[in-house]
Amino acid sequence: MQELKLAELEQKGFLDIDIDPTLDLFEEIDRLKKAKNAVILAHYYQEPDIQDVADFIGDSLGLAQQAARTEADIIVFAGVHFMAETAKILNPNKKVLLPDLKAGCSLSDSCPPELFSAFKEKHPDHLVISYINCSAGIKALSDIICTSSNAQLIVESLPKDQQIIFAPDKNLGGYINRKSGRNMVLWNGACMVHEIFSLEKITKLKQRHPEAKLIAHPECEEAVLRIADFIGSTTQLLKFTETDDATMFIVATETGILHSMQQNSRNKTFIAAPPDNACACNNCPHMKLNTLEKLYLCMKYEQPEILMEEELRLAAKKPIERMLALSKQLGLGG
Ligand code: 13P
Ligand code: SF4
Repeated sequence: MQELKLAELEQKGFLDIDIDPTLDLFEEIDRLKKAKNAVILAHYYQEPDIQDVADFIGDSLGLAQQAARTEADIIVFAGVHFMAETAKILNPNKKVLLPDLKAGCSLSDSCPPELFSAFKEKHPDHLVISYINCSAGIKALSDIICTSSNAQLIVESLPKDQQIIFAPDKNLGGYINRKSGRNMVLWNGACMVHEIFSLEKITKLKQRHPEAKLIAHPECEEAVLRIADFIGSTTQLLKFTETDDATMFIVATETGILHSMQQNSRNKTFIAAPPDNACACNNCPHMKLNTLEKLYLCMKYEQPEILMEEELRLAAKKPIERMLALSKQLGLGG
């Protein structure tokens, strides 16, 4: 079984492999972690059980920084494909596993490398800053990578007259344009989770709870950001809820973050901002493809593994390393 390759696993229905129902998956995962010298990195949007077994929970910047410094032999990335890919780009000699290889990202998918390459050719004097939520192919076409934690600082660290293309998120790019007074050319991409919030329902909720603060991720649309009391990456939102005096928050980002918010501030109330759909669901369907069972199976069989061509890896590594070095210089950890 140990030697099963991904194709075989898929063919056999990897997800259908029976797990002994008497197994304590928390214990088993912990045992495998020690036995294999593995580290579990989890994004805040993962389900609570996964966050609870993770060695490190973070936003995209924190996770990339952890991936760059880990001494583990195996990195288990409980997140989406572009995150695990980033870990592999930084650690070619380590095994990088993703519990479900189909955990993609609508934002990353909105920017295919062939189309972006043609777009870039139309703006030959522009520097390309890409949000980390993109494929290795887009990273390879970029000069600097950024995350929602450092995007504004990275943009502002460049000369005012430097022309810039920002990809793939038009909402984050627009937000940075408004904050920095720049006029970056924006790729027309967006995240399906952050575009779904209903301004009307949020406004009504605010009226019902005037004491609550609205906090929003910069991937949200401009109309939501305009009425937000605080805007930041997932880690920045979490820290804000810990330090701000308010005791009630309306949270406009993926619902997974509410687990850490509630754990870190037990006496505060967190309300998921209402989306504009009938099922009132603002979970990321990609992030939520990972489950504790899939995490256990992937650690047991060391599959599915992220693999990449060396030429692409080297090209994608440069702008990520530039971001990590700039983040350090700008005092954002490292
Ligand atoms: P951050 O992790 O930078 O907050 O981004 C959120 C996100 O959408 C990740 O997919
Ligand atoms: Fe992509 Fe949005 Fe899901 Fe993040 S929340 S992984 S940006 S689809």
